[in-house]
Amino acid sequence: MPLIRLDKFISERTEYTRSQIKSLCAKGSVTVNGSPVKRSDTKIDTGADDVTVCGNAISSERFRYILLNKPKGYVSSTDDKDGETVIKLVPPEMRSKGLFPAGRLDKDSTGALLITDDGALAHRICSPNNHISKIYAAELSRPFEQEYVEKFAKGIVLANGEACSPCKVQKAENADNLAFVELHEGMYHQVKRMFAAVGNHVENLKRISIGGLILPKDLPLGKCMYLLPKDIEQMFTKIDFDAILTIGHNFFSAN
Ligand code: URA
Repeated sequence: MPLIRLDKFISERTEYTRSQIKSLCAKGSVTVNGSPVKRSDTKIDTGADDVTVCGNAISSERFRYILLNKPKGYVSSTDDKDGETVIKLVPPEMRSKGLFPAGRLDKDSTGALLITDDGALAHRICSPNNHISKIYAAELSRPFEQEYVEKFAKGIVLANGEACSPCKVQKAENADNLAFVELHEGMYHQVKRMFAAVGNHVENLKRISIGGLILPKDLPLGKCMYLLPKDIEQMFTKIDFDAILTIGHNFFSAN
């Protein structure tokens, strides 16, 4: 592995600036392989050396891939002019400078949201050309009607005349007011507007998968986890929509 400067390594992977890293090193708060390193221009081997800052291990990976189980009340943005952002929910030790949400969930929607500093990957996830599907669980104010299946499969036309691509929708097995929808595109408020177009109303909306990656049952609302390379690969696999209906998560419980 190539040798790089300690301050460059840390600044690319955290929110610290190079001058902050210099003073943290001088204070003995930065260690390499367990020993404090006083000079921030020390060269390290990114493949072999273990670095900590204030006791937190710094991953050697260049980019962060974080899955958030988004709660209601946060905006999918880095700009807090419309309210608190999802970035606030990323614990400080998981943050890096360029983190942003890859894709959008409405302020009142919950569920799987990728937060990353890898712009190229985010583009691949969000670009409709890549056909990465997203599955949503929608709690409806009125019972699901079987005719929705055909209407969604033909392509819903929204109230303003915009046409949605054909997609799958299904009623959940044990609840008349719970539906699952699989989208391959991301128009503004799309799921809510699609159900409005068939005369229903979405009370609660949760994204439960991004590509083949399903929101883990044990990730509490408001919490983040690092995604591993295998999880990223999973996002680029196809999901079996019918299988999702039977996985048995209680999507609108406390979690
Ligand atoms: N569709 C919506 O209506 N809202 C979301 O947050 C995501 C998809």
